[in-house]
Amino acid sequence: MKRLLRWAGLGLAGLVTVALCLALGAFAASEVMIRRAYPKAPVRIAAATDPAALERGRKVAILNGCHDCHGADFTGRLFHDEMPILRAYAPNLTLAAAEQSDAELDRAIRHGVAADGRTLWVMPSEAFARLTDAEAADLLAYVRSFPAQGEALPRTQVGPVGRLGVLMRKFDSAPAMLKAEGAIELPRVGAEHEAGRRLARACIECHGPALTGREVVGAPDLTIAAAYDLSDFETLLRTGVAPGGRRLGLMSQVSPARFNALSHEEVAALHGYLRARADRVL
Ligand code: HEC
Ligand code: HEC
Repeated sequence: MKRLLRWAGLGLAGLVTVALCLALGAFAASEVMIRRAYPKAPVRIAAATDPAALERGRKVAILNGCHDCHGADFTGRLFHDEMPILRAYAPNLTLAAAEQSDAELDRAIRHGVAADGRTLWVMPSEAFARLTDAEAADLLAYVRSFPAQGEALPRTQVGPVGRLGVLMRKFDSAPAMLKAEGAIELPRVGAEHEAGRRLARACIECHGPALTGREVVGAPDLTIAAAYDLSDFETLLRTGVAPGGRRLGLMSQVSPARFNALSHEEVAALHGYLRARADRVL
């Protein structure tokens, strides 16, 4: 009996050792993926300096949600706390801007590679890569208009479940996503819808590069927008409330902060584009 127990004990110890090795191996493998470096793309850009640049840059920032993650005064914040998946801190942009050149900031924003060479995660550069050079220059002027203040924040942490997601390619870094989807164009549905198509770039972060949805954030294919009449669509974008008084998740959270910046004409152009796209797809 004693011998049997000893063997059982040894077996258990063996299993625990194997499990520990597997966990360590998985941790190491995910760490390699998280730290995988991407080349620093050559960038030439200078912040815009004309008097109207700040206002244009402010609109780019609002539509693209920079403040949602980096905070009202850009001093950064813990914007997503969901351990054991992810604890995501958006860094203090005022300190980054004080230390970095325009090109370094733009490389982080539109290529997903930070000035220190770090590969960015969770920062939606794959969507911002679609900003034009003029929009990026306006955005830089706006970011630079915030005084350097506050503290540096801790780095974003990926928990054990998040690491499994990394290993299973459920989550990917910004440059990896950019590589995978950078060449995908928003569908073209005629010259009369080009303005709406440009505005739909603000939906790519969550609804994907062709607006067919993103599973990781639970955002649907935007063919659903064809079921909205213009007035319901405008209410959703401005207030986050869907028809029937429905409050949604992330969509309701971000809509009022971001999409109130659109004029009525812009909302109508976006709606027209999404309807024309749905007619093509459905
Ligand atoms: C979904 C949240 C989110 C949004 C939206 C977002 N960011 Fe970020 N941003 C992050 C996170 C998280 C990091 C740090 C990622 C890392 O360290 O892996 C980051 C990093 C950066 C950096 C690099 C800073 C450094 O430390 O060198 C810059 C610059 C930046 N963001 C600018 C912007 C601008 C400008 C916008 C709007 C166009 C924006 N971000 C929108 C989350 C976000
Ligand atoms: C930060 C992420 C995010 C952005 C940016 C975003 N969406 Fe969404 N959207 C979602 C999510 C997630 C859902 C699913 C409902 C939910 O969980 O909030 C959704 C749902 C929707 C729906 C369906 C609502 C329903 O009836 O169920 C519409 C329409 C929509 N979004 C339109 C847009 C448009 C148009 C844009 C761009 C101007 C946009 N969204 C940008 C995350 C986003």
